[in-house]
Amino acid sequence: MYRFDRADYERRVAWFREARLGMFLHWGLYAIPARGEWVRSNEEMPEEAYLPYFDEFDPVDFDPRRWARMAKAAGMRYMVLTAKHHDGFCLFDSRLTDFKSTNTPCHRDIVAEYVAAAREEGLGVGLYYSLLDWHHPDYPHFGDRHHPLRHDPAAANGGRNFDRYLDYLHGQVRELCTNYGKIDLMWFDFSYDNPDRPMRAETWRGEELVTMVRRLQPDILIDNRLEVSGEGGFGSLWTGEPGPCHGDFVCPEQLIPPEGVRDRAGRDMVWEACVTMNNHWGYCREDSFYKPASMVIRKLVECVSKGGNLLLNVGPDARGNFPPQAEEILRALGAWIAKNGDSVYGCGKAGLPKPEFGRYTRKGDRLFCHIYENSVGPLPLPGLRAEDIAGMRLLATGAEAPIARSWVCSNYPDTVFADLGQDPVLPDPVDTVLEIKLRRNSI
Ligand code: GLC
Repeated sequence: MYRFDRADYERRVAWFREARLGMFLHWGLYAIPARGEWVRSNEEMPEEAYLPYFDEFDPVDFDPRRWARMAKAAGMRYMVLTAKHHDGFCLFDSRLTDFKSTNTPCHRDIVAEYVAAAREEGLGVGLYYSLLDWHHPDYPHFGDRHHPLRHDPAAANGGRNFDRYLDYLHGQVRELCTNYGKIDLMWFDFSYDNPDRPMRAETWRGEELVTMVRRLQPDILIDNRLEVSGEGGFGSLWTGEPGPCHGDFVCPEQLIPPEGVRDRAGRDMVWEACVTMNNHWGYCREDSFYKPASMVIRKLVECVSKGGNLLLNVGPDARGNFPPQAEEILRALGAWIAKNGDSVYGCGKAGLPKPEFGRYTRKGDRLFCHIYENSVGPLPLPGLRAEDIAGMRLLATGAEAPIARSWVCSNYPDTVFADLGQDPVLPDPVDTVLEIKLRRNSI
């Protein structure tokens, strides 16, 4: 009978709650066709049409230290790399398959190099592992919801032995949890409903899998996609009676939950929104719909203000480079975080309603006003009283901002206003952060 230990759970997730920002990396053979990581499924592409990319894969510019340095400079505290995506191609030297990076012209164990580089930069090390596998012969083909050959009767499933596939999956996860030192986070993707049988935790022999992972990596965090996948609720952790396959965090995809995520008892849950910079995870040549850097910064703040993390994706190209637009976003994010990181790391909900000017984040007795829209004259600080405030500073410069004493405020005795100075233009048009030191326990 599985016993959930909440104190131990809280201890394990502490670094993740502190981190608030991570980098997702989707990379593999699909970078060559450059139409996203679902290319095989979307186009119902047979294996023969995909295998030439395997013979060709040679990312001459791949430099994981550069990746890790860019992540670090952007303010990321951890990274998550696709060790295997749905196409089944492995970025690590698995003994259980030939379909791996070491057998391509690349000849490198990409996971090994990535893990070393991330560690060197002091970043948390995460691995994504796809439960789906469109390469493995024992994975259901015909009639599966997602398999590239789902409509091909010639790909009938007779003779496929799903248990053999599960042995393979478990064996690979064992390799990942054994051969690469400490792994901080495992991102399984994903359970789904299938016309014939649901692909849910039990289907993957989830209990056995999670038990093994936690035995090999006692402090690891696991997402909740063995139980649920951004649909079908938040998993057994939400119920307050976590089962053996419970994830450690909720992982909403391409969405920031309206008010964060609470469990059934109303407790704030640990969550991480995974979000693309453009509209694809894997490199997509035609997709230039990038979110502006200013939006990415504000979306990070939104996640933090609702008590969650942002896992921001980069899809490197077939040579191993980040798209230039992604590099630019990372640079802008890094420049903002370098000044304003205190309002992100370890911060969470403020316990105050969302202010008109932008958002609040908070860490203990430090309240951060993320000002997107300036006021005319003094800035009202909803939810606060003058006696709550020990002092106010502009976070980026440390400059004092006093409580406004102007006569124009005098008709609003119940509202406290900050005096941001004479300039009507905010010093940082994206997010000017005002730090308010609160008198302990006053709000
Ligand atoms: C989805 C997709 C996948 C992507 C993942 C990231 O479930 O299947 O391509 O890796 O989301 O959250």
